[in-house]
Amino acid sequence: MKNSGYESARLLSEYLLFHYGAPREILPYDFGPRDALDFPRRCVTECLDASRRPARALDVGCAVGRATFELARHCEEAVGVDFSRGFIKAARTLQSAGELSYERVDEGALTTRCTAAAPAGIDRARVRFETGDAMNLPEDLGVFDVVLAANLICRLSDPARFLLAAPRLVKPGGQLILTSPHTWLEEFTPRANWLGGSRLQGLLEAGFTLERRFDMPFLIREHRRKFQWSVAEATLWTRLIS
Ligand SMILES: C[S@@+](CC[C@H](N)C(=O)[O-])C[C@H]1O[C@@H](n2cnc3c(N)ncnc32)[C@H](O)[C@@H]1O
Repeated sequence: MKNSGYESARLLSEYLLFHYGAPREILPYDFGPRDALDFPRRCVTECLDASRRPARALDVGCAVGRATFELARHCEEAVGVDFSRGFIKAARTLQSAGELSYERVDEGALTTRCTAAAPAGIDRARVRFETGDAMNLPEDLGVFDVVLAANLICRLSDPARFLLAAPRLVKPGGQLILTSPHTWLEEFTPRANWLGGSRLQGLLEAGFTLERRFDMPFLIREHRRKFQWSVAEATLWTRLIS
């Protein structure tokens, strides 16, 4: 696999806005689905069980890294991994410099200069970003108290391969957080590898208990008059002890 399909300047700008944009920068209207904003932060606030006092977190398919930073509010170490070099470069700039400016598309060639800022109140030294393939993660990443894969599985060529390897990534008693809008497309995943219906659960239940399933809306702005409103299915899993 040479490219995850997430290397363009347009997608970099869309994801910086999606992860770090203020509500008004994303949705400049008094109407619209406000409860769909701030998705990467909500992946942590609504899904992480902080009462388990997690120490190490992995955010697979982290894109430009907002959820990785949010995991570092609770964990001593948060590692973000993504296949896109452009996304990881941007995430690393946010980690080292604390901010990154970019052009938000307003309409056609009209843009506005915006600044993405790493969230305040987080020790950025706890965060690390690496390029990597979710279906072939290096052994030396180790094991984690929490693994988040937000809107990743329907972008993998072989999502089952990632899910079958998940038990060795999560410590016994640890958490696996999956969200997915299940937008299966042959452009990313050959049809034979789509995980519709109960296939996802079937792949995970040997190693995990399903704790909760719920819906999470999210909003990605393409330009000021066009948005993608999607609803991810969130499933929260606990790694079996033995
Ligand atoms: C739909 S985006 C979701 C990004 C982020 N988790 C979020 O919720 O905004 C999918 C992400 O998965 C990454 N990705 C695609 N294939 C991957 C792979 N094989 N390994 C790691 N990341 C991959 C893409 O580069 C992209 O950042």
